[in-house]
Amino acid sequence: MKVPESQVAVLKAASANDAQTIEELAEEAGLKPETTTGAVFELEDEGLLSVEERIDESVSLTGEGKEYAENGLPEIELYEAALAAGGDENSVEMGRAIGQSGLGGPQVNIALSNYARKGYGSIDGGEIVADPDADPENDAEANALAALASGKPVEDADTLDQLESRGLVERTEATVRSVTLTDDGVTALMEGVEAAETVGQLTPEMLTTGEWRDVEFAEYNVSADAERIDGGKVHILRQTANRVKDVLVGMGFEEMDGPHADADFWINDCLFMPQDHPARTHWDRFALSNPTEIDDLPEELVEKVRRAHLDGIGEDSDGYHSPWDEEFARAIALRGHTTSLSMRYLSGNAVGELEPPQRFFSVEKVYRNDTLDPTHLLEFFQIEGWVMAEDLSVRDLMGTFEEFYEQFGITDIQFKPHYNPYTEPSFELFGRHPETNELIEIGNSGMFRPEVLEPLGVECDVMAWGLALERLLMLMYGFEDIRDVHGTLCDLELLRDVEVIH
Ligand code: PHE
Repeated sequence: MKVPESQVAVLKAASANDAQTIEELAEEAGLKPETTTGAVFELEDEGLLSVEERIDESVSLTGEGKEYAENGLPEIELYEAALAAGGDENSVEMGRAIGQSGLGGPQVNIALSNYARKGYGSIDGGEIVADPDADPENDAEANALAALASGKPVEDADTLDQLESRGLVERTEATVRSVTLTDDGVTALMEGVEAAETVGQLTPEMLTTGEWRDVEFAEYNVSADAERIDGGKVHILRQTANRVKDVLVGMGFEEMDGPHADADFWINDCLFMPQDHPARTHWDRFALSNPTEIDDLPEELVEKVRRAHLDGIGEDSDGYHSPWDEEFARAIALRGHTTSLSMRYLSGNAVGELEPPQRFFSVEKVYRNDTLDPTHLLEFFQIEGWVMAEDLSVRDLMGTFEEFYEQFGITDIQFKPHYNPYTEPSFELFGRHPETNELIEIGNSGMFRPEVLEPLGVECDVMAWGLALERLLMLMYGFEDIRDVHGTLCDLELLRDVEVIH
């Protein structure tokens, strides 16, 4: 009997022992596991091998699980601190117990949310009561973590469920196949099996020489287990940016586009930002050294902007009465906001004069010389937008934000009056972080001042905003440090696993 070479090796390997796994067979036969799997299925079809399948579950500790296996579960730490500090009443002020436990950051919340559930006592009006009869030595979760850490199995499914829902263990299932030689297989081996040459790939030579007629082709095995491959994918920030674009297009907006490095004229001067404004100094600004300035500023607009800065734009308006220097306005820097694009568009310099009503947006990078921390990077994506129409009011602005954020499941936006040199009134926007429950700033907005609009030649109202894409992402996915998604400290698992829902 002639079978492909790999099948001969697998048959011989299978005759060594009953019920071998594919891995054992592969080792014995000196073949790759995927080749072995293919051969096994072929031989099973021929009736020479029998294959039994079972699902094996393996449980492993996550990083956090390992940490608690080593240092103790936060709720036990808290219990022990509360017990030690509680005196005869077994009751102690919460801050003191937490202080003594040495817990910090998110672990405090973890400890508090598991404390009562596991019968360590109660938390009431800022006091922690420790039940003297609780028994941390018999904590099923702690003991399961310890067992897993030392490589022992844990059978208690309820405890495993609990640990899994706390993100402390991961359960994975794998199909294990055990292979045994059938009676026909034994006979075939006794009668002698020979290796036939199999060919994995058809070549042009085989076709021209006609050799293809004489060879045996290997078959595709579509049920073979394949290795998990983490290929490249679109970053969640990009995915979310694309979704934001879709949402805004759905709300009737058109996209703006323009230079990342631009003249201060577009970034600041058009926005009625005085030339001695603190944000315009080198502390916040990334200047360009080559080229240092822009040549083609629209002359007429430069003159109107200069006048607005000096004297304001009419009876009810006043300018800064300080020198306005065109050279200074020509200097190039990385844009600190994409409001520079709004200026280019509103001035008619990007796509020609615009008649109201109009709606435009961009979702683009901006650059700021900030100090890096969990909520600040040197660059971020700004969701810029504006609506030009007659008789706009703050209600239109708020309604637009509510409609926009609702599409991302965010429904409790809060507004706080604010100051911008270029809008009046102005509002900062806040949203509640799903994990820390804190209000975080998510954007800035307002109605452009006449001192901005008149030089641009806009005769109706314009409401506008700049929202931070990264902050939107924080509200959507609950991560607390922007560096989890950006840069060398990023959380690769998070980036691999999070899918943006469209
Ligand atoms: N440029 C502002 C910022 O970067 C956002 C903004 C745009 C505010 C337009 C009002 C109007 O914070």
